Amino acid sequence: MAESLAILVCNRKGGVGKTTVATNLASQFAGQGWNTALVDCDTQQSSCGWLRRRADCNLPLSAVDAHSNAGLLTPTLRLKIPADAQCLIYDAPACSRGFDLTDLFRRVQLALVPIMPSPIDLAASRSFVNDLQRTPEHRSGRMAVGLIANRVRGRQLSSRGLREELGSWGVPVIGELRDSQLYVYSAGLGRGIHEFKGQRTAPDRDIWHQIYQSVLTMTQRTRPEPVPVQDAPRTTTRPVIRFGPQQVPTTGQA
Ligand SMILES: Nc1ncnc2c1ncn2[C@@H]1O[C@H](COP(=O)(O)OP(=O)(O)O)[C@@H](O)[C@H]1O
Ligand SMILES: [Mg+2]
Repeated sequence: MAESLAILVCNRKGGVGKTTVATNLASQFAGQGWNTALVDCDTQQSSCGWLRRRADCNLPLSAVDAHSNAGLLTPTLRLKIPADAQCLIYDAPACSRGFDLTDLFRRVQLALVPIMPSPIDLAASRSFVNDLQRTPEHRSGRMAVGLIANRVRGRQLSSRGLREELGSWGVPVIGELRDSQLYVYSAGLGRGIHEFKGQRTAPDRDIWHQIYQSVLTMTQRTRPEPVPVQDAPRTTTRPVIRFGPQQVPTTGQA
């Protein structure tokens, strides 16, 4: 089997949309037929909670609890990630919580950074993106870096400033997410934007499809061949959450 596509969603700051981007990306890839694992590295376990809120799981999607209390990935992570996963999305905690991202840089082909349109956020994110650009993984071409502008309000002066500012960083901006209750609502349901129907959400679905295509271009990947029927990822009526040895599953299957 080809090496899994692995994407890290990260920013030094909290509350900028890392979990929102990671969960929507996971749902988008799973919706396109990739057997997807959402790897939650945060002690808050927001991504695992998102999947657990689904009433059903008709997508090839599972969540993996990867946090450890030492500010590192759990040592048993390799055992928890499904061997047949074709796409891994790592949801990183804010670095202010002392989490060390170095191990993750070695695992991924793309680091995606959600950015919010405020001067304080921009300054903090700029220095974080500079640090990403200086990593050996990025300098050697093994890890691409991309930005997602989040909570953008079309007519706001700050958003126009955001576009100009981001355009000058020399890093591709692969999507712009509008500031919308749709993101709060979908997170409450444990669903991705692409799973909604109707005209009102059509522009948001287009944005996510564009982000999906940009990720494939930046990582030089194509959609995997459909798995043969006998090996097809198991679709479940409940989402699958993989737990560490000490934890007790509250829903889904261990
Ligand atoms: N584009 C958006 N529009 C409206 N609310 C958003 C948007 N993106 C994120 N949010 C909300 O902002 C809060 C923080 O987002 P979250 O993804 O949890 O950030 P992080 O993982 O970086 O801490 C959440 O309540 C989330 O629902
Ligand atoms: Mg989060």
